Amino acid sequence: MDIKIINETLENIDAQAVITFIVNKNFNHTWVKHKKILENVNFKAESEDGILLAENNHVYIGCENLQPDELRLAAAKAFKLLRQTSYKSVKIGSYVEETNIESMGALIEGFVLGSYEFTKYKSKTEPFNLQEIIISTENYNQSKVSFETLIGVKDNAQIIANAANYAKEIVNTAPYDYTPIQMAEDALKLSAIEGVTCEIFDEKFLEKEKMGAFLAVNRASVHPPRLIHLTYKPKEKPKRRVVFVGKGLTYDSGGLSLKPSDYMVTMKADKSGGAAVMAILKGAAELRLPFEIHAIIGATENMIGANAYKPDDILRAKNGKTIEVRNTDAEGRLVLADCLVYAQELRPDLLIDMATLTGACVVALGEYTTGVMGHNEKLKHELFRAAAKSGELVNALSFNRYLKKLLKSTVADISNISSSRYGGAITAALFLDNFIEEEYKDKWLHLDIAGPAFVEKDWGYNQSGASGAGVRMNLYWLMLQNQNEDKQ
Ligand code: BES
Ligand code: ZN
Ligand code: ZN
Repeated sequence: MDIKIINETLENIDAQAVITFIVNKNFNHTWVKHKKILENVNFKAESEDGILLAENNHVYIGCENLQPDELRLAAAKAFKLLRQTSYKSVKIGSYVEETNIESMGALIEGFVLGSYEFTKYKSKTEPFNLQEIIISTENYNQSKVSFETLIGVKDNAQIIANAANYAKEIVNTAPYDYTPIQMAEDALKLSAIEGVTCEIFDEKFLEKEKMGAFLAVNRASVHPPRLIHLTYKPKEKPKRRVVFVGKGLTYDSGGLSLKPSDYMVTMKADKSGGAAVMAILKGAAELRLPFEIHAIIGATENMIGANAYKPDDILRAKNGKTIEVRNTDAEGRLVLADCLVYAQELRPDLLIDMATLTGACVVALGEYTTGVMGHNEKLKHELFRAAAKSGELVNALSFNRYLKKLLKSTVADISNISSSRYGGAITAALFLDNFIEEEYKDKWLHLDIAGPAFVEKDWGYNQSGASGAGVRMNLYWLMLQNQNEDKQ
């Protein structure tokens, strides 16, 4: 599907159908051509309402305001209605105030995000007819925003939304097909992008590097583990080095501390952090951002078997710290511990890890929100600003000294679970904190995406299943950092 911006009034654009947004229930606006019909069929034009007037070749969508995320929603809704029709082309006005290029980006993201479907395992799929969406520039004041700028905004929006869709496809893929080796193969494919290289490390490397925590989690799996290291280097001298680390559990059965059956379903999504960091690297490279970016993924399954690691085992991580295993289902933090130690050897200016780490984070913030943890308040606020622009929901969960004490072990340096049932998202992050060197404490953020990474019902412009959580907010953040450095 092609999205075009054309320097013409909507009237003068040739297409089979038209999309109109009814903003704040204003049926009297000149945009609304079929006021009578809409009133007759009792169309309310509430936010996320949509109707297809087939005889008039017109789609109307309710929209509370013209804020970017409202436009993402409206565009995705319009796409959903058009998906079932046989129209090949559709046109839409530019629903933005004069110079608001963020809204233009959001509109395009909405179409691309809304167009995602997971059909890999369906024998039959509905034919897809829509070939082009044409956006008119008529509302733009082109003495303030050039046509070239708009095209740039469009290209970036497509890159960002496609990156999120790329992560969704990985996460949705069944665990039988998506093994650590498959993840490594997909990562390798990204090296076709200019500036991207990929290194894949197997269990021998993990042994050599003394990554005893990561290896223990893998032990009962028939699939060998992989440490995936993707690098993107821009053409010019990079402004800074950003390292992303992702939890890539291609399946989490819980291990010997086995999950109850109802909780095991959806655990194919435990690779969402890994998928997100791959997607961020892909997006950043395609955006040609002037940063050196690394994506490190710890890919393994967490299974049961005679060879499985056990509660009571004591593991030694790459940095030499010993870990008492009290629950084999708290495996993500073990894999991340070793990967974070590896990541710090790259001497990052910024270190972000992403993981579906705890059910507790979902209890704390609900299914739709990412939990953000770390020591540096300024970094968190920068990320929050970017997340707001991207439309992703985030909230902070703060550390405190009392929770930190709950990870004490009598037999090892630290226990892999807290001694209290409360505050589990934060204690998991505090576990990771034990593997962050003093020098990097203020450069590190931990994002727990256990809620939004995979939701088993549609929400907003997200389909049931994977949502690509964390991808858009981080790409927006990188773009913001780039703008800020330009100003300095
Ligand atoms: N992968 C899970 C966390 C999870 C739960 C992700 C629900 C997505 C949805 C993680 O490995 C896990 O099992 N965590 C345990 C930790 C506990 C044993 C301390 C949890 O949250 O119950
Ligand atoms: Zn687990
Ligand atoms: Zn897990």
